[in-house]
Amino acid sequence: MEILLHEWGSAFLRWFHVIAAMAWIGASFFFMHLDAGLKPHPDIPAGKGGAAWHVHGGGFYEMKKYLVAPASLPPELVWHKWQSYMTWVSGFVLLGWIYYAQSSLYLIDPTVRALSPWAAATIGIGSLLAGWIVYDRLCKSPLGDNETLLALVGFGFVVAMSWFYTQVFSGRGALIHTGALMATVMSGNVAMIIIPNQRKVVAALLAGQAPDPKYGKQAKQRSVHNNYLTLPVVFLMISNHYPLTQTSAIVPVLVALLTFSGAIIRHFFNHWHADHTKAPWWYWGAAVIALALAIWLSWQAAPGRNALLEAERRVASAPANAAVHAEATEIVISRCSMCHAQSPVWEGIITPPKGVRLESGGDLIRESRAIALQSVLTRAMPPNNITELSDAERAKLALFVAAEMRNSR
Ligand code: HEC
Repeated sequence: MEILLHEWGSAFLRWFHVIAAMAWIGASFFFMHLDAGLKPHPDIPAGKGGAAWHVHGGGFYEMKKYLVAPASLPPELVWHKWQSYMTWVSGFVLLGWIYYAQSSLYLIDPTVRALSPWAAATIGIGSLLAGWIVYDRLCKSPLGDNETLLALVGFGFVVAMSWFYTQVFSGRGALIHTGALMATVMSGNVAMIIIPNQRKVVAALLAGQAPDPKYGKQAKQRSVHNNYLTLPVVFLMISNHYPLTQTSAIVPVLVALLTFSGAIIRHFFNHWHADHTKAPWWYWGAAVIALALAIWLSWQAAPGRNALLEAERRVASAPANAAVHAEATEIVISRCSMCHAQSPVWEGIITPPKGVRLESGGDLIRESRAIALQSVLTRAMPPNNITELSDAERAKLALFVAAEMRNSR
């Protein structure tokens, strides 16, 4: 019963989290687009805002932006904040639900550090809080006046934190925590700076006073940071499905490359929305080079790369025989089938994870590509090597998958 609740709880939480994030990021993209495309409007003094016409859902929208006090401000303003708060809250609960409640499967890698579940969760949560404090201080320090330098230091800070996470967590846990840290910064910006500052501005306007421009400036700075963090964060959130990204040694470099690519692609769109004719297409070139480098690195650093290449050479000179298949089946039955069976016997697992069954020779043939990726090329399975699959056994699995790949050609 508890397992059923845990499983469905996870599904509903994830559902909610993705919806909240879509609402938040969707609105944020829309406003960035709107901002970039504003044209002068006779009602608004030059340089103090502008207007844009949008067509959507069979209607026409005239959107105006006022940087200074409009002639009158209606009392009922629409605030955009709950999407952000709900994304963070659901994301935080999900992190606990998956990574802290099942930390031996996902977060704690004893070869990195044999943490207790409580210690792992404390480090995780503490680092998110500490990360926000450091980032917020950096923005409020004199460094905050220099946008470029602040961006570079912020970038360095994120990469350094991802390195720190690889020193305490599994590769997968390191990536998700780096994403959670960036997302905490984004939500913190909305909750602690953007919305409170906006409230002060509105209060001043309603009282007929001129608001202090510093509030708007601070909010804009944080909003720009959020904009550039969006794409990297989304990648980090889905990285847990891609074991090639999870080799601890390259996590900080991947975080750097992906943050760079995501930010520069966003930058391209900010220009594109302002003026299509002046869009800097070379930004795409830079992003593609960084992503290609990430792919190359993931292959170079894959722990089982040499074993797989060696197995491919061996089966090319001497085709594998039935004994290779039988041996691989035996290994998988003893190291994987406690979880990957029609009726798993591993505590806490009631259905074969991701529908992957590994109980017979036929199952192995069907799943050979997945085994190559999850257990030969990378060490994603068994999770944190919980059933102690040895290197010699991985080499035997390599021989089997290399033979299968050759057969299927
Ligand atoms: C302790 C339980 C356990 C053991 C042992 C285990 N797995 Fe898994 N396996 C899981 C879980 C849990 C998932 C789902 C992971 C997730 O949600 O990302 C999974 C997912 C998978 C997937 C699907 C990955 C995907 O994202 O599509 C494959 C393939 C796989 N395991 C292969 C193996 C192989 C091969 C072995 C043995 C060498 C093995 N597993 C051992 C628990 C286990």
